[in-house]
Amino acid sequence: MNLPAWPYPKTIAHRGAGRLAPENTLAAIRHGVSFGYRATEIDVKLSGDGTLLLMHDDTTNRCSDGRGRVAAKTWHQLALLDAGSWHSPAYAGEPIPTYWRVAKYCIENGVQLNTEIKPCIGRERETGAAVALETQALFSDPALAALKPLLSSFSTEALIAARDAAPEFDRAHLFENPLPADWLACCKAVGAIAMDANWRTLTREIVAQAHANGLRVACYTCNDMVDAERLWAWGVDTVITDAVDKIVFTK
Ligand code: G3P
Ligand code: MG
Repeated sequence: MNLPAWPYPKTIAHRGAGRLAPENTLAAIRHGVSFGYRATEIDVKLSGDGTLLLMHDDTTNRCSDGRGRVAAKTWHQLALLDAGSWHSPAYAGEPIPTYWRVAKYCIENGVQLNTEIKPCIGRERETGAAVALETQALFSDPALAALKPLLSSFSTEALIAARDAAPEFDRAHLFENPLPADWLACCKAVGAIAMDANWRTLTREIVAQAHANGLRVACYTCNDMVDAERLWAWGVDTVITDAVDKIVFTK
């Protein structure tokens, strides 16, 4: 079966620069860029009052000096938090960024985004639609076609909402470890062009099965060059990595 076009690099930085800088901040993305990375994965969710921002967890507890649920806070409250000190003193004061601000930085600096839609529980549809519509607004200029973001999510519901709001963006369905038996059906349900699996769940056979069904294959979070080489040899299209200092960015 013919495979869909895959205008994404072979390596994508995870959350900006893995663990080398505070995840999902502009500082992290700049750090990834300093190692030559021109593509990054980010986790995007909604504040209580509807602003899209970068944060992995449902709460601010781990990655900021705030406490409580992101969905229970306004953007103004979230914007006042320190999202850097938890990592190291050098990053004290680093703010939680909006998706808009990060995308603007990426556009200016030629960094491609893999925008992971990371909805807080119960906000799957609204987050999927909001990410798709904001991505559409950000990348409407045809001159930005080469930087078109890849949208991904573990949530089938969020991806369906994203597809309905802005079908022009490629979608990848994320899967946890273990890989669920219905992974192909999930990809089909959202019109995904790729499956995006935990790298430990992949085998040569699964990669071949995805390709035979017209799906590209991405995986996360592979931090060892030997493992990455094996995955590429099986035909994996993209490896998402924390190890931006060890695995060379490859277009
Ligand atoms: O998008 C790939 C990867 O980031 C998925 O897992 O939990 O790191 O967001 P997680
Ligand atoms: Mg992620």
